[in-house]
Amino acid sequence: QQQQQPPVADEYRDVIAALPCRLQGTPQRMRLYEGAWYREDWVPGIIAFHRRFVPRDDGGDVILASLPKCGTTWLKALAFAVAARGAYPPAGDVQRHPLARLSPHDCVPFVEAAYFAGEEARLEAAPSPRLMSTHASYSVLPASMRENPRCKVIYICRQPKDMLISYWHFMNRSKFNTMSFSDVWKSIPESTYFGSPIWEHILGYWNASKMNPDRVLFLKYEDVLCDPIKNIERIAEFIGQPFSEAEKKAGIVGSIINLCSLQNLKALDPNNIGFRRVVGIEVPNGSYFRKGKVGDWVNYVTPEMAESLDKFLCDKFHGTGFAF
Ligand code: A3P
Repeated sequence: QQQQQPPVADEYRDVIAALPCRLQGTPQRMRLYEGAWYREDWVPGIIAFHRRFVPRDDGGDVILASLPKCGTTWLKALAFAVAARGAYPPAGDVQRHPLARLSPHDCVPFVEAAYFAGEEARLEAAPSPRLMSTHASYSVLPASMRENPRCKVIYICRQPKDMLISYWHFMNRSKFNTMSFSDVWKSIPESTYFGSPIWEHILGYWNASKMNPDRVLFLKYEDVLCDPIKNIERIAEFIGQPFSEAEKKAGIVGSIINLCSLQNLKALDPNNIGFRRVVGIEVPNGSYFRKGKVGDWVNYVTPEMAESLDKFLCDKFHGTGFAF
């Protein structure tokens, strides 16, 4: 029945045309949906996620959520390696592992991109628990999913200054960059970053994780870098597949860390050769893997620019209980 539905871009054309829009200082026209600004071409998929998505009751669903450039690709690799470790051990003959042959984005698809491409059957066919991802805000997750105790969300956020520098590099390697460095740097206060306002994107998931810690796990990129063992164990426990003592003794967490390390993934063909189509745009596979460092922003902006952004965000997060 789903396959008979029209392409989402046609189905929601009128809805999208009525949404507030903006162009200046953005990579492309943006639209405001459910309180967040997205590139217009992502909006049909995001609306479809909001309106059409049906969570699976039996084995549950796991959604990996993030703003772009916060470690999405890494989280996909880690969560996939953890969830699939029964079928695909992360040690031994790792050439057999799906992550050796496929991009983490193929192992864990973006829900909105699947809808955009008319590939929702792929989501339907995935085994339970289904691992999927999104850049949409918490407000877009269908109520049936937010209220379902079997649906889990893992959110990853990152120091915004590093996120912006990462975004700048990513766009320069893609074919769609129309933003100057200054546009990118201003994209947080001007709410032209994908998913803006970013503080609301973060707080949506942060508040949900405080209210329902068993349904929303909130991670920080920097914490995962600093203590990968602890955070991978948290992921495993959260999705209901904790590591046994025998697995820990056998060093499975270390194997997952190695398999999903930046150096390892970056060197694999699916992650460094060719392009992939993401919501109609060609993106080099290699553009998802760069330095993976904390504090790279110091090489690009002055301390005054950094301080001004820190202060802006500090005000936005004041009194929320959240801090970077
Ligand atoms: P940098 O550009 O700062 O290096 P996303 O996956 O959300 O698009 O985020 C991309 C950022 O995550 C890039 O940051 C990229 O290098 C980093 N990254 C990708 N894979 C990683 C990994 N396996 N370990 C750590 N960081 C990784």
